Amino acid sequence: MSDLYLKLVNTPVGKTAAQSLGLPSPAPLKRLKRVDQPFIEGDVLIGAGTGARAIATLGSILGASPAGLHHATGVDTLADSAQAGNKAKAFDLSGEVDGKFSALVFDATGLKTPQELRALYDFFHPTIRKLAANGRVLVIGQDPHTCRKAPQAAAQQALEGFVRAVGKEIGKKGSTANLAWMAPNAENQLDSTVRFFLSARSAYVSGQVVRIGKAEEAKATNPVAPLAGKVALVTGASRGIGAAIAETLARDGATVIGLDIPPALEELQKVTDAIKGKALACDITEEKAPKLIADFIEKETGGVDFVVHNAGITRDKTLGNMPEHFWDMTIAVNLTAEELIDEELAERKLMRDNGRIVCISSISGIAGNFGQTNYSCAKSGVIGYVESMARHLKNGITINAIAPGFIETQMTAAMPFTIREAGRRMNSLSQGGQPVDVAEAIAWYCNPASAGVNGNVVRVCGQSLIGK
Ligand code: NAI
Repeated sequence: MSDLYLKLVNTPVGKTAAQSLGLPSPAPLKRLKRVDQPFIEGDVLIGAGTGARAIATLGSILGASPAGLHHATGVDTLADSAQAGNKAKAFDLSGEVDGKFSALVFDATGLKTPQELRALYDFFHPTIRKLAANGRVLVIGQDPHTCRKAPQAAAQQALEGFVRAVGKEIGKKGSTANLAWMAPNAENQLDSTVRFFLSARSAYVSGQVVRIGKAEEAKATNPVAPLAGKVALVTGASRGIGAAIAETLARDGATVIGLDIPPALEELQKVTDAIKGKALACDITEEKAPKLIADFIEKETGGVDFVVHNAGITRDKTLGNMPEHFWDMTIAVNLTAEELIDEELAERKLMRDNGRIVCISSISGIAGNFGQTNYSCAKSGVIGYVESMARHLKNGITINAIAPGFIETQMTAAMPFTIREAGRRMNSLSQGGQPVDVAEAIAWYCNPASAGVNGNVVRVCGQSLIGK
């Protein structure tokens, strides 16, 4: 779907008009152009507060990119930045800062008291205005739930507010800010997350916090096809976000089984044929659906590595006006079916070790939405399901959710104009996302190196002003 305002405002006349009328001026977002594109280019500045534990790992992840790597120096609170490794050149922050950075990366894992938060100011104050358009801010902290002392938990929790506020300040230039909270000694799990958040793949992800736990170290053996040899089931794959997920997982090497309702079979087949996948016509709310899906997987591929529960519907009405079938259908498609499919696949041992389950929630499930009591209820239930399952899954299987904000699809094109326009602009990037933005985040969850990413709900919403 096209956003005419975004196009118009990026013409010279449109830009001037928007500025003089005080209208938002969204910057065009740079998305991935080629699969072999480096995850970051340009100059990257890395810094660390006292006691930083991830700095050497960050130095080595960034050192593998073609970016010019620099570490902060010249300020006492940032002395540990020097541990970024010998690929990083010293960059003095005590005087005037020259140049532009494509990313500012900060290791805050060692901050133990609110006083030590000063290091954030010392690193970002002189540099934030030097962040290039479409730039990246990434902060690594320690998960506050794992902090033994209150001052340490306070300092680590403080990072969330800081990063979210930074995201709101830099969004107008198409830049993003995100936070990864690591469990102690989970440095070896940072790789895929650092690459994702610094890359063009996360163009529409900002103001997010992801928890990274300990897990067995796993690496993708093929950097341009990290999902090679894997099988993915994607529901609702005939169009919109589901089609983009199917295409993106296939691009990254997976064999995709696309599923959709029987009336959508022709469209579905166009998607699966183009990616050499398989099409399965099935209404996931039918009683026999879990068995039908499991039988298909057993026969066609013998098992599945990724299950992406993308199929979803809205049936909007205010609660007092809502017919009961609106309620029942919405809960059945968006929530109940996911659980029943997972149960069947687990019972029949078709979900392979180190598998990934990905559910699609929504900002409506986080903030609630007028006229969507059924949908908000179902999408909130998805979050509860993911958080609970994450604690119980075994054999290296993870489960995470994506909560899309306003994504340009047929679902959002059907909205009344004013609601659609408000939805598009009410985020730090002042624009809607593309289906591929959701798909890229799912590809990151599915990456073999994302074993420590479990139980998260990441919003792909351009940092929506609604909800958390
Ligand atoms: P869409 O309406 O374009 O696509 C949904 C797909 O699910 C369709 O192909 C549909 O046929 C399929 N589907 C519906 N009921 C089914 C059933 N019973 N069995 C099998 N397949 C079924 O929607 P869109 O926009 O691509 O959304 C994808 C997911 O993202 C949904 O879960 C939606 O709730 C969620 N989402 C979308 C947002 C957006 O801005 N587009 C925002 C937040 C969440």
